[in-house]
Amino acid sequence: MSEMRDMHESIGKAGNADRLRAFVATISRVVTQAERAGSSEPEILAQASAALAELVAHDDWLPEAMARPHPVYYQQHLLYGDPLDRFSLVSFVWGPGQQTPVHDHTVWGLIGMLRGAEVDQRYRVEGGRLLEDGDAVVLSAGQVAAVSPTAGRRAPRAQCA
Ligand SMILES: [Fe+2]
Repeated sequence: MSEMRDMHESIGKAGNADRLRAFVATISRVVTQAERAGSSEPEILAQASAALAELVAHDDWLPEAMARPHPVYYQQHLLYGDPLDRFSLVSFVWGPGQQTPVHDHTVWGLIGMLRGAEVDQRYRVEGGRLLEDGDAVVLSAGQVAAVSPTAGRRAPRAQCA
């Protein structure tokens, strides 16, 4: 519980914490309404993408403690965890040249680029081998991308760098 309190105190010290709170409230409403209406994943992603695009259009809400890179590894800072475990909001911080291993996206997710840029490479499995699938895509500040096992542009595997 103290981690949750620390997180909320940290968010409260951000330049424009209202922007982040409003985003969390919007996503909570989107997933609640989607559950009630039986909305499809693309419908959820479209609504949540619009909210995330609005959030990353401004760079005045992320606490500096949640934006610190690690000298060797990319960092993950939990900004918000839904009490019903329906979604979470995480700040991923990459130093120059840092990357993840190739991985699957097994649930829907959205990437909102706040600063800098990310290079995404999609992969496919063919004959038991991992092969690059198309050209790498650069995601720049202010842009939003969706990932999921069924509707994501980076499924089934992606390397985030
Ligand atoms: Fe990823």
